[in-house]
Amino acid sequence: MKTTNRLARLAGIAAFVGASMGGAFAQMAPFGNDEDVSYAADLWAAMEAINLAGPDAIRSYPYEGVEPHGFVLETLYAKATLGGRTGDLVVKRNYGPAGVEIEAVQANAAQHLGAVTVMFKREAGYDDENNNWFYAKYLPDGSLDKNPAGLQLAGRVAKGMDQGCIACHSAAPGEDFIFTTDHIR
Ligand code: HEC
Repeated sequence: MKTTNRLARLAGIAAFVGASMGGAFAQMAPFGNDEDVSYAADLWAAMEAINLAGPDAIRSYPYEGVEPHGFVLETLYAKATLGGRTGDLVVKRNYGPAGVEIEAVQANAAQHLGAVTVMFKREAGYDDENNNWFYAKYLPDGSLDKNPAGLQLAGRVAKGMDQGCIACHSAAPGEDFIFTTDHIR
């Protein structure tokens, strides 16, 4: 276990260095590669198909958020089907800017939407040690946000690193990588 962690960490550092060097090295990263980006596009389309993304998306009750996700949040739990496989999907809408009121978000959600962060349960073997979650951070138009190194935020995001989706979500109660509920593993 220790060795695995160590290896994951080294892989993370390699990925970071790779990312800053760009080009072929970027493909070493555990996220943001071509497969991740095209999978994220398919996932967005699947979310649109069930009205969880796009202009007609189903709304939920916005509530006061916590860092790093935004000042006001909405969280929805669903299932999505991709390539004939159905998996758990958690959609978090992140509203801003700093100090925005819940009422303002309710009145005009589209205007305040900063990002849509998503976790989708992939097939066994995708990332077993992290419960096979696929992470993505979209901008409101469905394109992917990028990290400072220019890598698109989709896949095993920041796996093995000290900060980022997986590092932070691994501390969620219930060892399920989900903070807000334990009903999904
Ligand atoms: C520094 C810690 C941290 C980082 C980094 C982080 N999150 Fe979260 N995330 C949280 C917390 C805390 C919550 C619960 C927020 C709430 O109360 O609604 C959360 C909630 C979520 C949820 C709803 C499911 C749940 O856990 O309750 C999704 C989906 C999500 N985050 C995706 C992401 C993605 C994708 C990334 C990376 C781009 C990311 N998160 C990075 C802390 C983090």
